[in-house]
Amino acid sequence: MTADWGSSLISDIAVQDLTETQARAELEHLAVLLDQANADYHGHDAPRISDAEYDRLKLRNARIEAQFPALKRDDSPSNKVGAAAASGFSKVTHDVAMLSLSNAFDDEDVIDFDARIRKYLGLPPDVDLAYTAEPKIDGLSLSLRYEQGVLVQAATRGDGAVGENVTANAKTIADIPHQLTGAPDVLEARGEVYMSHADFEALNARQTATGGKVFANPRNAAAGSLRQLDSEITRARPLRFFAYAWGALSQALSDTQYGAIKRLGELGFPINPLTVICNTPQEMITHYKQIEAQRATLGYDIDGVVYKTNDLALQGRLGFRSTTPRWATAHKFPAELAWTRLEDITIQVGRTGALSPVARLKPVTVGGVVVSNATLHNEDYINGFDSKGAEIREGKDIRIGDWVQVYRAGDVIPKIADTDISKRPETAQPYVFPTICPECGSDAVREEGDAVRRCSGGLICPAQAVEKLKHFVSRAAFDIDGLGAKQVEQFYSDGWIAEPADIFTLQARYGSGMQQLKNRDGWGDKSAEKLFQAIEDKRKIPLSRLIFALGIRHVGEAASNLVAQHYGNWTAFEDAMGQAHAHEGAAWEDLIGVDGVGTVMAQSLVNTFAQEAERASIDRLVTELDIQEATRPDTAGSPVAGKTVVFTGTLEKMTRAEAKARAERLGAKVSGSVSSKTDILVAGPGAGSKAKKAAELGIETLDEDGWLDLIAGL
Ligand code: IVH
Repeated sequence: MTADWGSSLISDIAVQDLTETQARAELEHLAVLLDQANADYHGHDAPRISDAEYDRLKLRNARIEAQFPALKRDDSPSNKVGAAAASGFSKVTHDVAMLSLSNAFDDEDVIDFDARIRKYLGLPPDVDLAYTAEPKIDGLSLSLRYEQGVLVQAATRGDGAVGENVTANAKTIADIPHQLTGAPDVLEARGEVYMSHADFEALNARQTATGGKVFANPRNAAAGSLRQLDSEITRARPLRFFAYAWGALSQALSDTQYGAIKRLGELGFPINPLTVICNTPQEMITHYKQIEAQRATLGYDIDGVVYKTNDLALQGRLGFRSTTPRWATAHKFPAELAWTRLEDITIQVGRTGALSPVARLKPVTVGGVVVSNATLHNEDYINGFDSKGAEIREGKDIRIGDWVQVYRAGDVIPKIADTDISKRPETAQPYVFPTICPECGSDAVREEGDAVRRCSGGLICPAQAVEKLKHFVSRAAFDIDGLGAKQVEQFYSDGWIAEPADIFTLQARYGSGMQQLKNRDGWGDKSAEKLFQAIEDKRKIPLSRLIFALGIRHVGEAASNLVAQHYGNWTAFEDAMGQAHAHEGAAWEDLIGVDGVGTVMAQSLVNTFAQEAERASIDRLVTELDIQEATRPDTAGSPVAGKTVVFTGTLEKMTRAEAKARAERLGAKVSGSVSSKTDILVAGPGAGSKAKKAAELGIETLDEDGWLDLIAGL
C-alpha cells in the first residue's frame, strides 16, 4: 500500500481555523491521496476508498484552496476532472423490472415471512402453503432474452429498470445457450452469473503472473469480467450461470415456481440442484441449515437461501412492494466478522443535514474485502444504546483507540458490532458527539424521538447544499451526462452553482463572456458544448424524477413514483402540498391515503414545501423546467384506471390489503370514504353507511364477484 488510507493525514480542523502551514501540508497530503485514488479507480479498476470518501477528500481540498488561494498547487487535484468513465454499453429498458429481495436474518423472520403472506392472502394456518428454497448465489444477475428460441439480448440488472446491454459478452459464457428448442416465442430467462472458487483462484494467479488486476472476491471477478467492453476478455474468463427466474414471457412456463425452474432446466439452462420444495417454515429453516452446512464445499459463493411461494397464481396475487416481491425473501447467512483498531471517528454531513459518525479503521479484511471505514449509525449507538434507549453491547460505549469488531453482510456498508474494552488504551476518552455542524458551524440539533443529530444550517451548509446537488444530478434523478458528483463539487466550490436551478442557467452565465466553461482546466469547446446540450435535454423531466431529485427526506425513488402517479402533474402536486400544510384536512388525508406513503413521509413532503427558503429554491427550479405529467404505463386497457374506488363490508376472496394493492396496480385510486368523487363502491356483506351514502349519491355499487369480473384477466 503506497498511500496511508487512514484519515489521520486529514485533520478535523474546520477549514477556516487552519493555519497557513497546516493548510499547505494538508493540500500536499490530499494531492497524494487523491492521485492514488484516481489511479486505483480509473487505472486499475480497484478502488480502495469509497466514492463517499473520495468525495470527502476532494471537497476538503477544494475548500482549503478556496480559503487559501495562494497555496493552490500546480498539481492540484481540482484541476483533474476525472469524469466518470463512460460505461460504453448501450442501455436496455427491462420489460419486466429486475427487482431485489427482502431479507430474513433469523428463524423468526422466516416464520414472519410465511405469516405475512398468509395474512395478505387471508389464508388460515391450517391451509397448506408451499415454498421453493434454493441457494442465493453471490454473483450478478443477468436477463437473457430469447425470441423464437434465439438469444437476442443479454442485460445486466442496472438500477432494476434500465440495465446494460452485454449480449456479446454473455454469448461467450458456455453455460448460456444461444438457441432453445421448444421455448415460448418470447422468453426472458434470468439468473446469476458467478465464478467458481477454483476458477477465481486460477484467474487471480494468472492476473498476478501477468501483472493484471487481482480481484477481491469471486463476485467482483464475475462482475469485472462480464462488464468488459471487449468480449474477447470476457471469453477468456471462466464465468458460469444459474437460471432461477424469468422476465417477459409469451407463454407461462408452468403453474408453479418449481415447475418453471424445472422447465428452464429442460430448455438447457443450468439450474441449481439444491432447489427443494418446503411445506412449512420449519422445513425451510431445516433446508437453510443443510445448505449452510454445505456452504464451504459447494465450490462457489452463496450468501443465503431464497424462499419463493411455489404457486404462481399466488405469486401473482401477492405482487410486489416498491422494489421487492411479497412472495419471496432471502434468508441471509450471518455476516462476516473481523477485529481491528478504531483509529478515528469522523462526521459526515448528508443531504438532509444528518451528522453520520464514520469509523475510520485500521484496514482489515472482512470476508475477502478490505474494509477501512464503517458506519457507527448515530450518537446513541456510539454510547451503547439502541433507538429505544435500551442498552446494546451491555452498555459499552465505543472510543477512538478501541479494538472493535467489524461485520459486513453482502453488499451493505460495514458496521461495528462490538468493542473489546479489555484492550482499550488507558488514554481513550468517551467520544463527544459534535453539537455544531463540522461543515458550516451551525447548531446541530437532535429533535425528540429522532436518533439523528442534524445540522440546522439548511442550504447555507455547504455539505448539505453539495450533497443535495449531487443527489439532484444522480442517475435516478436528473442524470445529466457529464455532470457528476465531481463536477458538481467543483462548480459549487467555485460559486458557479449553488442550487439546482443554477444548473439550468449555467450556459447563460458561462457559455460566453468573460469567464467561460470551455476555458476551464479539464474542459474544452467540445466538452462544454456537450454539457450544455445535456443540461438542455434534461429540462424536460418526468414528474416522478423531479420529485425524487428534490432530495426530500424519506422520499425515495419508489415513493416519488407513487406520489407522481397519484397527483399526475406538478400543479396538482404543489397545490396539494400547500393545502396539506396543517397536517389535517382533505388534502392531508388524500396524501396519507396513497398506498406506500406514511405519516412520516407525508410530513416530510409537506414541511419541505412550507419552508420558505426551500420553497423559493424549488420555485426557481421549476420555472426552468418542462415537467412531464405522470402516466401509468401499465394500466392501458384497465377499466378502472383513474377511477376512485371504495371498499366496504367483508371481502371473502381477498384481504383488504390485496384488494387495495391490486386496484392501485390497475390505475385506480382507493379511498376510505364515499363522496361525490367516488366512482365505484365495492360492497361485501355487512356494508353499512357507506353503501347507503353511495346509493344516495347514485354511485355504481358492485359486490366482490362483480368487482372481480370487472378486473378479470388483468
Ligand atoms: S430471485 C424478483 N433467486 O439476489 C426476485 N435471486 O437480493 C428475483 N440472487 O438481484 C430474484 N440468487 O441477483 C433470486 N436463487 C436466487 C438468487 C437471486 C441470487 C440475487 C439476484 C437478485 C438479488 C436480490
